[in-house]
Amino acid sequence: MDMTNDIVWLTIALASITVVITKAKRKTAKLDPKCIRMPPPAVKGLSIIRILHTLLTKGLQQMIHDQYKKLGSVFTVRFFRMKATFLIGPEVSAHFYQGTDYEISNGVGLEFTVPMLGKEVGYGVDSATRNEQFRVFYDVLKPSKLRSHYGSILQEVEEYFEKWGHQGIVDLKQELNQLLMLISGRCLLGKQVREKMLDEFFTLFQELTDKFFPYVPTPATRRRDIARAKLSEMLTEIVRSRKEYSHVENDVLQNFIDFKYSDGRSTTESEVIGLMITLILAGKHTSTITSIWTGAHLLASARILKSVLVEQKILISKYGDHLDYNAFLEMDTLHNCIKETLRIHPPVAIFRRKVHKNFIVQTKDGIEYEIHSGHTLVSPVIFNNNLPHIYKDPDVYDPDRFGPGREEDRVGGKFAYTSFSGGRHACKGESFAYLQIKVIWSYLLRNFELKLESPFPDPDWTKLVAEPKGRVMVSYKKRLLATTEVVHA
Ligand code: HEM
Repeated sequence: MDMTNDIVWLTIALASITVVITKAKRKTAKLDPKCIRMPPPAVKGLSIIRILHTLLTKGLQQMIHDQYKKLGSVFTVRFFRMKATFLIGPEVSAHFYQGTDYEISNGVGLEFTVPMLGKEVGYGVDSATRNEQFRVFYDVLKPSKLRSHYGSILQEVEEYFEKWGHQGIVDLKQELNQLLMLISGRCLLGKQVREKMLDEFFTLFQELTDKFFPYVPTPATRRRDIARAKLSEMLTEIVRSRKEYSHVENDVLQNFIDFKYSDGRSTTESEVIGLMITLILAGKHTSTITSIWTGAHLLASARILKSVLVEQKILISKYGDHLDYNAFLEMDTLHNCIKETLRIHPPVAIFRRKVHKNFIVQTKDGIEYEIHSGHTLVSPVIFNNNLPHIYKDPDVYDPDRFGPGREEDRVGGKFAYTSFSGGRHACKGESFAYLQIKVIWSYLLRNFELKLESPFPDPDWTKLVAEPKGRVMVSYKKRLLATTEVVHA
């Protein structure tokens, strides 16, 4: 009882301090001669306790929804010294995605990646070096390079599913995790890792992620450091042997070895390893989770499944049973299913940035606010992807919303769809991700009759990337989709 009272009094005291600090800060803002526009409306004082309560009991989306309805598309949550300004919708998001690193930086909270990726890459180096390193990601994954990966991905997919046999029941999560590991091994890490040490590589890789307190010395962070050192050893050996014997491979690892900065400097071994770990970290898990959600949605809707099968049949009649890269480029229906999956389940649910230079944002109603340096900016993708003024019936899984005549994301404006982020820090692996997931689902649907045996999964919000909760059991029966076959809805 005493303790409960203490907590109540402490809460009231903290809230009162927040009110006083907030008022004092607002006064300063008004007196500042450089402040030419009003700051955004703020959640302050006792309201903080209310929104924290909503956050803890009803979740982030409900919390944002309540404040959006009350305060509009730009609002600030002030909590002691922290000022987080939320930007809701494409109309107010351009600067967030397009601002330069000097105006608005992307490193908020990403320092936690340094022990995983290494001090030589990403948020361990200055922004100029980092931008050059991101240039190599773009170079190796750009759409024009995809044709060269297509054959390797298809071969991995065919070999993997040949082992399934005639019929059975599997956990889709486990299967697709394994398959995406093989694809990453083959296309990114290269033949040596793929053939000799893939399981060991990914077992160690698993130890790198999901550490909530990355700098606190715990058994988990110690395991991470040991795993990081072993991964580094494995890759260093490969890099050295390629250099020593002038052995050149056609994989992304080779591109990192051959990369030169704009001043002509070559990459060091540690940089090559850091770049590779970054790429696997950015691409493997996101693609795995998206391919599982895509499968769950396809198998849960007979109408949508039918439209994808019809598209596959049309392509078979045009290109024959072995669909090549040109056929893959025409899989628009399947593409839109993946895109719609990502609208509902974006692997990165919110983006954050830090403001370094004041800027003005205008809402769609023409109201202007000045956002000051020092604020943390929040773009909640998971909320922005569901705005009813952009997406009709946003709660419904409806891939046709991206099809001809609707194109709701394009009509909505440049930053209406941000599952791959946008502007300066947009995902460099978007095309590669679509390629992998399309090859997998095109092959599965053409070669097996599939049925979702478990109930449609809920998202597991306890994970860094919200994956389907529990197992996703799917039964399969071998078939060869023929152009003459009638597809039932
Ligand atoms: C469905 C799959 C994927 C999704 C949804 C996705 C999403 C994203 C998002 C949202 C970001 C930006 C994060 C931020 O702004 O803080 C990002 C960055 C990045 N992604 Fe992806 N990604 C996917 C697959 C891949 C793949 C397969 C690769 C490579 C093989 C990849 C490589 C990268 C890289 C290198 C960056 C850093 C870009 C930068 O900061 O400039 N991604 N991704």
